[in-house]
Amino acid sequence: QEKQRKEMFQVSDKAAEIYSRFLADAPQAAVARSYLEKRGIPQEIRKRFGLGYAPAVESSGWDFLSHQLAEGEQAAALEAGLLVRNERGGVYDRFRDRVLFPIQELSGRVCGFGGRIIGEGQPKYLNSPESRIYIKSKLLLGLYQAKDAIRVQNQAIIVEGNFDLVSLVCHGCENVVAPLGTALTREQLRLLKRFADNVVLLFDGDEAGVKAAVRAVPHFLAEQVAGRVALLPIGHDPDTFVREEGIEAVRRLVEGAESLPEFTFKQLVAEFGLTLDGKSRIVEALRPLVKAAASPLQRTVIISHFSEQLGLSPEQLDTMLERPEPVPV
Ligand code: GTP
Ligand code: MN
Ligand code: MN
Ligand code: MN
Ligand code: MN
Repeated sequence: QEKQRKEMFQVSDKAAEIYSRFLADAPQAAVARSYLEKRGIPQEIRKRFGLGYAPAVESSGWDFLSHQLAEGEQAAALEAGLLVRNERGGVYDRFRDRVLFPIQELSGRVCGFGGRIIGEGQPKYLNSPESRIYIKSKLLLGLYQAKDAIRVQNQAIIVEGNFDLVSLVCHGCENVVAPLGTALTREQLRLLKRFADNVVLLFDGDEAGVKAAVRAVPHFLAEQVAGRVALLPIGHDPDTFVREEGIEAVRRLVEGAESLPEFTFKQLVAEFGLTLDGKSRIVEALRPLVKAAASPLQRTVIISHFSEQLGLSPEQLDTMLERPEPVPV
């Protein structure tokens, strides 16, 4: 078992090496280099994140990677999802015509890849499948590169996308990580907590971004991390925003980020309104959050914030929350 995992890591490291060398040097990778050029990602940053390119079938066939692996490496490459089995028992490369972001664990070993298609096409991102070494709920893109900056600044910024991450780093903001195309998990937060006390969610201002932030709230409570939320103007993500408005504008957004209780309250008011009925719905929505609070202090903080906003005394709100949930009629 352990031996198999080790072989999976080894072949993933080797693949990362092959793909990044190809991006840097190969004539067939010119399309990827100009794509990255166009997106403002210079060579230094490509190197820092080990970015690579898996060539298109037209230029390199279905076995660009598998051809460069030894017989004995194929099994591990299949396990790691770098290769896929076809119906006739042969194998072919999973990643083709994509810019690849290696996903590293804290030691730097490569666990998997996220691949963005060049230009338009579906799916836009293709990631490694879950495996014994790629457990996406426990990994964060960019943490390996960001961990020192996160520790020094005692703050981590979480963005939604791969290019949001590298784009901010290009502009000198280094304490950034991204979940792998999924909602932030409790395990990921626990991982970040080892490096910083403060975590800021810098999400898109659209519905998906707001939803992602709302869903993260219980994890912050459970892990007792002081979270804050900053939303980008609608239509922007951190990548487009920093390129248009500059890094100082991003820093202002991050500095002005709302605390999680503030953010949560605003969202609930937007959803339910402040009528009598709305207020009682807000109290109901608060119930699971108070339950998720890991400490009495946190509970007190939430209750005092919400009671003030709702025009109740903390004792009143506390009593309402203690009552059993209303029976649905
Ligand atoms: P760009 O167009 O490259 O700037 O993508 P984006 O990062 O702005 O994409 P978007 O905001 O749509 O998604 C944010 C993140 O979700 C991406 O960076 C990916 O990690 C993930 N994601 C987006 N689309 C897909 C997809 O089609 N499949 C998978 N698995 N993940 C995706
Ligand atoms: Mn999308
Ligand atoms: Mn979005
Ligand atoms: Mn984007
Ligand atoms: Mn985006």
